[in-house]
Amino acid sequence: MKLFDVYPVNDISIVKGKGSYIWDQNGTEYLDMYGGHAVISIGHTHPYWVKKIEQQLRQIAFYSNSIKIPIQQALADKLGKVSGKNSYQLFLCNSGAEANENALKLASFHNGRKRIVSFTKAFHGRTSLAVAVTDNPSLIAPVNETENVIFLPYNDEDALTDYFIKAGDEISAVIVEGIQGVGGINVATESFLQLIRKLCDEYNVVFIADSVQCGYGRTGKFYSHDFAGVEADIYTMAKGMGNGFPVAGISIAPFIRPKHFMLGTTFGGNQLACAAALAVLEVIETENLMNNAKLTGEYLMAEIRKNRELKNVRGKGLMIGFDVPTELKDLKKNLLMKHHIFTGEAKPNVIRLLPSLALKRSDADKFLEALHEEVAVLTRRPAKAESL
Ligand SMILES: Cc1ncc(COP(=O)(O)O)c(C=O)c1O
Repeated sequence: MKLFDVYPVNDISIVKGKGSYIWDQNGTEYLDMYGGHAVISIGHTHPYWVKKIEQQLRQIAFYSNSIKIPIQQALADKLGKVSGKNSYQLFLCNSGAEANENALKLASFHNGRKRIVSFTKAFHGRTSLAVAVTDNPSLIAPVNETENVIFLPYNDEDALTDYFIKAGDEISAVIVEGIQGVGGINVATESFLQLIRKLCDEYNVVFIADSVQCGYGRTGKFYSHDFAGVEADIYTMAKGMGNGFPVAGISIAPFIRPKHFMLGTTFGGNQLACAAALAVLEVIETENLMNNAKLTGEYLMAEIRKNRELKNVRGKGLMIGFDVPTELKDLKKNLLMKHHIFTGEAKPNVIRLLPSLALKRSDADKFLEALHEEVAVLTRRPAKAESL
């Protein structure tokens, strides 16, 4: 049987990981500045996380949501504390797309409306409604097409206000990434998020903060929307939540009331997933990883900005993007093949950095040295950042 060929892949097979490093089948070591697509939050195979999963595995891995699962409540308590949203309610599921599906569905159940506001360059997943609110027509199959979704320009306050004046009473939800990931690391302005909050309050619209990529402490705050000093009604989360163990969730404001069977899932919230997710939050807390993400991210951004060949360095914490001019188009490939450093990308010309929140300063330096050297080689100039 062949694999269904949906991704272009690097000809590398990773067999081992530890902290911010991974190794291929030949024993070659790579620095992981990509975090397996923003998934590795506390570091590959973190010993505490491994221990907690192993312990749980020996007890019970799965039993259905038809029984009480105390570790779900332990996870909810810890998430409420670390995210600063103690009064919110947790629904557990399995992937980012599923989290967004449930959030959008819940909003519609709540206010009985159908229309959804999304934004240009948004990415929210590949399942039916999640892909319908994703601004990439090539991902939307005919069956996913819907007239219920409108795309407004990201960070355009006038367009948002105008649309609310026109159709505010029909809107069920606004869904927005605090920092667009797939879209190329575009940071929402604080005033834009504050306006969304204000308009949602005025028109009884549910504010959904997609925190699948930009959440879970990656930016230095638990949710990147926190920078604007506003609270969303529903936060969706996935990638960093399990440090590679598939687990996702939505954090729901107390005014949204549950009814039996309005949401549900077979695997969501299983004991093993909860053990992994709980271990992640414990490590984020005990190792002060949000602060590390903030400081190491600020350092990286300041150092990358010194290189004048790289444009528009942006982001927050360890969610960083910069534009690569055409003459440096081989930069990402050379970082991987010559320097053994994984980075992420966003089409057409953005390099994305999404490493573990535990990235050490020495590893940031290792990346910066390789980056400046490779930029110099590709532009045939001296290697030192200061002299560029
Ligand atoms: C912001 C955002 N939302 C949702 C998703 C979908 O998550 P998943 O691939 O787990 O379904 C992604 C994945 O990249 C994402 O970046």
